[in-house]
Amino acid sequence: MSRRLEGRRAIVTGGARGIGRSIVERFVADGAQVAILDLLESEGRETAEAVGARFFRADVRDAAQTRATLTAAIGALGGVDILVNNAGILRFSPLLSMSLEEWDETFAINLRPMLVTTQEVARAMIEAGRGGKIVNLASMAGKAGGEGQGHYAASKAAVIALTRVTAIELGAHGITANALCPGYVLTEMGAATRTAEDVAEWSSYSPLGRLGVPEDVAGVAAFLASSDGDYLTGQAINVTGGMIMH
Ligand SMILES: NC(=O)c1ccc[n+]([C@@H]2O[C@H](COP(=O)([O-])OP(=O)(O)OC[C@H]3O[C@@H](n4cnc5c(N)ncnc54)[C@H](O)[C@@H]3O)[C@@H](O)[C@H]2O)c1
Repeated sequence: MSRRLEGRRAIVTGGARGIGRSIVERFVADGAQVAILDLLESEGRETAEAVGARFFRADVRDAAQTRATLTAAIGALGGVDILVNNAGILRFSPLLSMSLEEWDETFAINLRPMLVTTQEVARAMIEAGRGGKIVNLASMAGKAGGEGQGHYAASKAAVIALTRVTAIELGAHGITANALCPGYVLTEMGAATRTAEDVAEWSSYSPLGRLGVPEDVAGVAAFLASSDGDYLTGQAINVTGGMIMH
């Protein structure tokens, strides 16, 4: 495997498990030093130890805690070149019975923290003058919607919009920002309600005939984080096995 992230320093939110963990593993394999920011203390520590990363506990809903933890992580890494905003939640709730608490919780985790992390990390990148890469986890739902996903889909559409503004405002500093829009990836997210029928149905929507695995997303994240992605910015890239093509 190429070591195309050699010498790069990366921060991955929600890196304790799932897609985030796979991105951390891939970045480390590609030569990066990686800091995980996650709420899950024991899974985060276990992942960090297993893959050779650092763990920092933070609840991204808490902006002050997130800023302080990012300062510590950037200090430990000796700088930062890559930010992956991956922490997120998916809850199901039909529009007509959705509570405002459910709506607010989704936005408080999926969207608002991206402003905080982007501010902190981009300031450090600009000060260092070496450019940088920001990768935001959106979703196919941000483009296509999804039943019971009014809050989730809206938050992910907002992630795509925020990513575009980030690309526009930070491009002059050599910082790229892109969103990844995974389709249906087999992780803990959605696992509690997943059935064999769901897997068969969703697999049939992909021309490749299968659901995604975290490594499918991690490979594209590594590409965007590397110099191979230098001329891509403001994009919302589908990683859906062709489930959607726009
Ligand atoms: N799994 C999918 O099918 C799918 C599809 C499209 C997009 N995504 C997106 O990919 C990202 C990762 O999802 P996943 O499938 O790996 O889910 P996951 O539930 O396995 O992992 C999410 C991670 O985010 C962390 N996290 C959640 N809330 C947090 C908080 N308040 N503070 C800090 N960390 C927090 C969790 O602890 C966990 O480690 C999410 O943004 C998700 O919306 C997933």
